[in-house]
This record gives sequence, C-alpha cells and structure tokens, in this order.
Amino acid sequence: MTSLTERFPAALEAAEQLDAPAYAVADVVSTVLEVTGTASQPIQNVLHGTWLGHPLHPILATVPVGTWTMALALDGAEALGLAPQRRLGEAADLALKVGVAGAVVASAAGLADWRQIHGRDRRTGLGHAALNSAALGLTVGSLALRRKGRRGIGRAASGAGWLALAAGAYLGGHLVYRRRVGVDQADRSPEPRGFQPVLPVAALQEDRPRRVEVWDEAARAMVGVVLVLHRGQVHAMGSRCSHMGGPLDEGWVQNGGLVCPWHGSRYCLATGRVLDGPSTSPQPRYDVRISGDQIEIRHVPEPGDEALTPEEVDAGHAYAVAGAGALPEGRKADEVLFEHHQLLRRLFETIEGMQPDDPERRDMMRLLAGELEIHEHVEDAIFYPAVRPVSEDVPVAHAEHQQLADMLAVTLRLGTSSPEFEQQLRALHQAVDHHASSEEESMFKEAQRLGEARLRELGQQIEEMLEHERVSRARSAFRALKIRLLEGA
Ligand code: FES
Ligand SMILES: [Fe+2]
Ligand SMILES: [Fe+2]
Repeated sequence: MTSLTERFPAALEAAEQLDAPAYAVADVVSTVLEVTGTASQPIQNVLHGTWLGHPLHPILATVPVGTWTMALALDGAEALGLAPQRRLGEAADLALKVGVAGAVVASAAGLADWRQIHGRDRRTGLGHAALNSAALGLTVGSLALRRKGRRGIGRAASGAGWLALAAGAYLGGHLVYRRRVGVDQADRSPEPRGFQPVLPVAALQEDRPRRVEVWDEAARAMVGVVLVLHRGQVHAMGSRCSHMGGPLDEGWVQNGGLVCPWHGSRYCLATGRVLDGPSTSPQPRYDVRISGDQIEIRHVPEPGDEALTPEEVDAGHAYAVAGAGALPEGRKADEVLFEHHQLLRRLFETIEGMQPDDPERRDMMRLLAGELEIHEHVEDAIFYPAVRPVSEDVPVAHAEHQQLADMLAVTLRLGTSSPEFEQQLRALHQAVDHHASSEEESMFKEAQRLGEARLRELGQQIEEMLEHERVSRARSAFRALKIRLLEGA
C-alpha cells in the first residue's frame, strides 16, 4: 500500500478534470502579460529569474515559509504565556505581514513559471498554487481577526494557513525533485575534450541551425550539438534546451540569439548565455575551428568540471616526469594497492570460514576493519587526488568509500555469532569486492597515464602511509588498553 505522500501527488497528476481550469488560469496570466506590450518579455525575465541564473520563485518562497513559521512559534509562546504577551503578539503579527508581502511576489514568479509547464505537472502545479492561495487567504483572514482583538481564533486561522503552506511546499518539492521541473535539462557532457570534426563547412547555411552528434563514452550515449553559421562565423552550443529539453536545432536565429521552438528561450550564439527566459541556465558551449573543409568542435569545460582536456592531462604528465628526476625505486601505487586488496579479500574469506562462536572471530573482524579503514584513508589522501586528472572514476569511488564505512560501522556493532552478522558480512564483502574490482579494472589502468616515475613515487608514499597508520593505530590501541587496565586496578 502506498503512503499518503505518494497518493496525494499521484491523485493530482491523474486528475484530468483540472486541465480546463488550468488552461483558464493560464489564459488569464497570458492576457495580463500581453497588455504590458513590449515590457512583457523583460517582466517575464525578472519573474523567471533569467537575470539571476536560477529560478526566482523558490528563493522568494522562503519568505512566507520562514516568517509564517516564526509567527507560529511566537503564537505558541504567546498562548503558553512564555513572555510578555503584547510583545510576542506584535512580533507574530509583523512576521505574518512580511510573509504576506513575500507570498504575493512569490506567487507572481510561480505563475510565470507554471504557465510554461504542461500535463500532469501543470495539474500538480495548480494544486500547489491552490494550497498556497489557501494559506495566503487564511493568513490575511488571521491578520483581520487579530486586528479586531480576536487573537485566539486568529492564531488558529494562521496555524491552519501554515499547514496549507506546508502541504503546498510538499507539492513544490515533488515538482522539482521528483518531476525535475525547473532543473537544468541541458546535456552537460564533457565530450569532445579535444577538437573533433563534425560537419563539412559547405553543409552549413547562414542562420539555419544544424544538429550534429558526438559520442560520450562514459555516458554511453550520443550528445546533440547545434551548429549555427551567423554573419560568417560558426557557433556551437548544446542542442537540448536547458529549460525543458526542447530541440534548439529546430529553433531560429533572432537578434544574435538562438530561439528555442518550445517556449521561446533565447540563447546568445557567442556565449550560450540566456538572453530571454523562461530558461535560467546557460547552454553548454563548444569551441569551433575550421580545419580544411571540416568544422571541428571541442567542449568548453565549465567551472569545477572534473573532466580535463588532453592538453591538461599531457601537462600533468610532463610535470610528473620532469619532477620525478631519477626513477624512484619500489613498486608502483597500483601494485601496492592491488596487493592490499588481495589482503582484504583473504581476510573476508578467513572470517567467513570461521565458526560463528570462535572467540578469535571478533579479533579478525577488528583487524579487517582496521585494514579497510587504512586502505580507504590512504587512497583518499594520496591515490585519488593524484589520479583525478586522468580518471573520472574518483567521485564515484569516493562515494563508495563512504558507503563502505557506513556498512562497516553496522557490521562491527553486531555480535559475530549472530545470523545478522553473517548477512551483513556477506554484503560488506560483496561491496568491497565490487569496489576493489572496479578500481583494478578501470582506475588503475587509467592511472598508467601518469607515467611510471609518478606511480612509483606514489607507491612509496602509500607504503609509508600504510606503515605509519598501522603503527599509530597499534599505539593508540595499546594506550587504550593501558588506561583500561589502570582504571581496573
Ligand atoms: S524547452 Fe522551454 S524554452 Fe526551450
Ligand atoms: Fe577504494
Ligand atoms: Fe582500493
């Protein structure tokens, strides 16, 4: 059986009878915007948050949420007589008034966004708006009652308003986090990292957008890019509109921008910036060059991108080789880590093979836990940062470390002779095996691009840290034992 939080939005999404009133409300909003004439687009840009680079509505919505919650707390304190009543009441009334002003502005921005969504999302959006309107109505009513001195019923009205607001906020969250309304829908693939030919120059006509595709190996998918020849220059940007995924290659050029055919967002040809909303996110950009009779493109990395260009990888490689001097002795980092993986695997097999009531099982489990923690620490501190320029596996591998640490903590809490322990140990074993194998099959291979000298240097550092960690853990374990013995004496 599904919970109320599932059934509530599901019922709204399926309620086709809401379509007729939804269209009527959308028509009223459109008519209001139409009468503003040439100011209509700038007004919409302000309401959508195009100027801000993020949707404006959720930011404004924090005003009523914050102030009305504050008012609820102050009302509660007033009702309980926790402080001088007049001061509390005045503060609560002020918070409600500020919230009303915020709610009115937030609803204008919300209506502008809602006008552009369709189908089930439009129905949910209508439910969201209805609940928030009810919250606004109850709060305004509450303020009127308070002014007449009927504070008790006034507090009840604004309390009911707060509940309606919370239910409306739930639907708003559903629209964004579940239905992905308002989130960036552009393809943010880092490919191609180096210049890649995509189309003969002769195939492009002035101001006629043309779609090409590039392959993203990591995502195992084609990524669409739109090319536009405008005033003798070729421009390229992601072909999937960041607003709701519309096909920009089917759009048109207007005032130096490419217009999306779905809701009219206009993107600067040269920079990918949003010139007109409803979109708030820029399009992915590509460098363009002409080589012979071919147009070649290369993705422009965005700030904070994990993906590096071939030039950056080569620069890192050159630095590693130049900085290394004579080839360091010892094993390479991947060899040291592989050996440690094997040790972890043997430890798991040993514990799994022991009798549940074997008193040594707990000690072996502690040893495994210590080695696993040290392994993760060494990788996070030395190997992952070093390998990041040549491997995109690092963020996922790091996330897996956190999951392994959580699983380990649960396993350690269980008695080693319990059936739950067996189950948890098996799951942890599988998770560690999956993690170690994917490192060996992917990251360790990619790490070879760092060069042998750098890998040997890292191997040395890893061996030293493994040793250091083991010694310091042994020392602190001894200290803890000593304290326990002294306390017992
Ligand atoms: S999909 Fe809405 S403007 Fe492009
Ligand atoms: Fe790892
Ligand atoms: Fe590892």
